[in-house]
Amino acid sequence: MTPADPSPAAIDEVVAAVQQGAKYTSVDVALIAALAIQELAKGRSPREAVKEVKSRLHQSVAAYYAGRPDFSAWRDLLVQASSLEQLRTACCAIMAMHHSTRERLPSLDTFYATVLGDLSGVETVLDLGCGLNPLALPWMGLPATAAYLACDVDHAQMEFLDWWFDFQQQPGRSFVWNLLDGAPQFPASVDIAFLLKIVPCLEQQDRRMAERLLDNLAARVLVVSFPAQSLGGRRKGMVDTYTRRMDELAAGRRWHIARFDFPSEVVFRVYTEPADGR
Ligand SMILES: C[S@@+](CC[C@H](N)C(=O)[O-])C[C@H]1O[C@@H](n2cnc3c(N)ncnc32)[C@H](O)[C@@H]1O
Repeated sequence: MTPADPSPAAIDEVVAAVQQGAKYTSVDVALIAALAIQELAKGRSPREAVKEVKSRLHQSVAAYYAGRPDFSAWRDLLVQASSLEQLRTACCAIMAMHHSTRERLPSLDTFYATVLGDLSGVETVLDLGCGLNPLALPWMGLPATAAYLACDVDHAQMEFLDWWFDFQQQPGRSFVWNLLDGAPQFPASVDIAFLLKIVPCLEQQDRRMAERLLDNLAARVLVVSFPAQSLGGRRKGMVDTYTRRMDELAAGRRWHIARFDFPSEVVFRVYTEPADGR
């Protein structure tokens, strides 16, 4: 058994130790195992690997939450809303608990109107690494019949979002999915796929992940975004860096791209099929 081929026992040991931490009990075991394999393959001991895996999970999953999410209190808050205005206020309060949706809040009134406003015939939406973004449904202007499929790596979060779709009477569901395994292949194709601020996060887990994901994602329109600032609020040339990254990802693909700049986020809307059929 070489470090590059870690033993099942060592992988299990690392996964079990990571899951013992309250922060990660609800995180998809497939993601924990994938990171454990990567760390053990570097020749680390199981003990060292546990430390590294926890640190990487913190960076790419847990760090986004301001405190421990209280899904039951969030349900109560949403149920108590008795008007659209109150529902939106409750959604904003919940989205403020996840860093990624929190920094989008100041632009929410224009964000989806700008990015999706002129799209028609939307029947299916796939939200990859969704975080709490489905709580922005009341701003999205989607048809009431559009199926919204959302995935991320936390079981409790996905249960909450499943409840939310029911509560909103929006067809759809949420499910746990580790994107290191590629894009979910059900349904076979969708109208819109959101990849909101997930590329840097996935590339931190696997350098070639974004290319692989885009290769096996069948969507008429991709909405790919990047943060304009770090979690700490520093801008440090991030927009230029991510614009270059998007250019690289688009190279060799017959994409038509529109770009929208918001204060905290740069968005690329990609038509994957040429409109004139060329
Ligand atoms: C920067 S946040 C973006 C959240 C949301 N898309 C948004 O923009 O509001 C990154 C999200 O990716 C999720 N994530 C990280 N690694 C993942 C993986 N391997 N598979 C699926 N989701 C993952 C995290 O849990 C987190 O919700």
